[in-house]
Amino acid sequence: MESKPLSIYRDGLFDGRMALITGGGSGIGKAIAFELGRLGCSVVLAARKAERLESAVTELSAAGITARSIVCNIRDEEQVAAAVAFTLEAFGRLDFLVNNAGGQFPSPAAHIRTKGWNAVLETNLTGTFFLCREAHNAWMGEHGGAIVNIIADMHRGFPGMAHTGAARAGVDNLTKSLAVEWAHCGIRVNAVAPGIIFGSGYDNYAPHFQQVFLAMADNIPARRLGTEEEVACAAVFLLTPGAAYISGDTLRVDGAGSLWRTHWEVPPHDAFPRYGGQPLPGESGGSGE
Ligand code: ADE
Repeated sequence: MESKPLSIYRDGLFDGRMALITGGGSGIGKAIAFELGRLGCSVVLAARKAERLESAVTELSAAGITARSIVCNIRDEEQVAAAVAFTLEAFGRLDFLVNNAGGQFPSPAAHIRTKGWNAVLETNLTGTFFLCREAHNAWMGEHGGAIVNIIADMHRGFPGMAHTGAARAGVDNLTKSLAVEWAHCGIRVNAVAPGIIFGSGYDNYAPHFQQVFLAMADNIPARRLGTEEEVACAAVFLLTPGAAYISGDTLRVDGAGSLWRTHWEVPPHDAFPRYGGQPLPGESGGSGE
């Protein structure tokens, strides 16, 4: 089993509670399901791949966690409504929503086709909105609750994956809007922004990319990559009563990576425009228009 049977939170903290986790069949979503489940929370996992969901539910159940799953493409609002309805029918409540499902692909911005751009925006931004809206309208608007959106380290832009950077920044902003609009319903809305996380996808990377990926630790003050459990622990904190006064915030879980070097190399050039004047001492030319 990948996830470790330890929690810093007290046993039974979430007894009688219920969480819906998107993308919960693997990776960070599954780690969050384990962390919540070990604390007494029942979980519904919603994702696209039935097989993965079934195996995650089997693992969770073997650990004594009450878990169900539903196949759901979060881009489809009817499937989202069905996932929330399924959760309410199965457990009669919805205390926590964790929007973890997401997807993107590496590409320089100039090469992203419209279809790919739309797919990433629809999944990461619109899908998250569908889930928040449905959770609010079907349950939390009347009963309160807490939402955590898993986003990304897009605080300085996201060169190399501009589509997901734009979408995740959109979710960061959505988090703030909903925190204000829904405060009077007793709903808290926060986000977690993971940095470079060593996760279940690593084995599927091409060998040369595995090396590049591990070397990213050199750009992180922590001098190591993060783990799925570390992201899960932070996400779960935002659902605990200890976070009762926290809403509209984004918690970075990145070993201070977003405060230091970036992974993006800018090639040497003298192409940048200039407003008057001549090249400064040490500059390599420039047109000085
Ligand atoms: N994981 C990645 N893309 C997804 C989608 N569209 N729906 C649910 N889970 C996903």
